[in-house]
Amino acid sequence: VLEAETLAGVDGIIGLCIPPTMANASDDLLWLHNYSVGMDRCKGLSEQQVENVIFTNNKRLSGPTIAEHAIAMLMSISRGLPTYTAAQAERRWDRSPFNDQRFGELKGKTLLVVGLGGIGTQTAWRAHGLGMRVIATRNSSRSGPDYVDYVGLSDELHKLAGEADVVVNALPLTPETTGIFDKAFFEAMKPGSIFLSVGRGKSTVTADLIAALESGKLYGAGLDVTDPEPLPEDSPLWLMDRVIITPHVSTGGIDSVRRMTTIAIENLRRSVAGEPLLNLVDIRRGY
Ligand SMILES: NC(=O)c1ccc[n+]([C@@H]2O[C@H](COP(=O)([O-])OP(=O)(O)OC[C@H]3O[C@@H](n4cnc5c(N)ncnc54)[C@H](OP(=O)(O)O)[C@@H]3O)[C@@H](O)[C@H]2O)c1
Repeated sequence: VLEAETLAGVDGIIGLCIPPTMANASDDLLWLHNYSVGMDRCKGLSEQQVENVIFTNNKRLSGPTIAEHAIAMLMSISRGLPTYTAAQAERRWDRSPFNDQRFGELKGKTLLVVGLGGIGTQTAWRAHGLGMRVIATRNSSRSGPDYVDYVGLSDELHKLAGEADVVVNALPLTPETTGIFDKAFFEAMKPGSIFLSVGRGKSTVTADLIAALESGKLYGAGLDVTDPEPLPEDSPLWLMDRVIITPHVSTGGIDSVRRMTTIAIENLRRSVAGEPLLNLVDIRRGY
């Protein structure tokens, strides 16, 4: 947390957009570069800050890394690796899961990217490269790269979920996306499909996800984000077959960090030179 005396007279901040920092920011603050992506923690802004401060963030910069994480979780689930890894930890040569690998190959299957932004686009590109048909939703446009077969708006989510063998949550957390993956959504999903979540945990209603897994409606899930975080020790998700949980770490690795540093420095240069900044955020929209 940056103290008020540190922030006195400060024009720009490169740091986390969190309530204590924003409460201590000077009235002269012109620019805040959130050294993170999600703006959901950037709460309690004054009307003056909403009106006058230019917000930028790290969006798109961890897209390639997180997309690889999502695909790694997907392939791990489809190939049954969690079961074999558990057997290996006990030095057990157990071939019995062989007959339970019902998901089959990714090639020819359909993947729905919910939130075709930085992470979503990178995930789509990789899935397409694996021979999957890719469809997606966005918030403000229907345009997308040519490797995405169809781009719909958010109100088409349930219809598109019914076509998908794999769904990836790559959404920012906004009022519209909070709890968007709920009972009705999981009911709309194809039986035997896989749910991946790398956006924000609060987009998923955890109890509804658990019910969908327990009923067998979902084949499996790969979760880098959960609600709540940390996931409580007694959550049934921990011990479910074909559920992979990583503790909000999918951005880890040197490549994302290098891009984040580069963009922060470039934005600092632009800010001093009075040039337009990169990675602008619409703070009212929330991403
Ligand atoms: N797991 C992690 O460690 C981690 C790391 C980084 C980020 N994240 C999360 O992932 C989110 C996405 O990151 P990003 O870099 O991909 O951000 P981004 O480039 O800003 O992409 C966000 C995308 O979501 C779309 N969107 C917003 N509301 C939507 C809705 N209601 N329905 C469908 N699409 C909607 C936007 O559509 P339009 O383009 O049409 O406006 C945009 O394409 C972040 O906000 C953050 O919360 C998680």
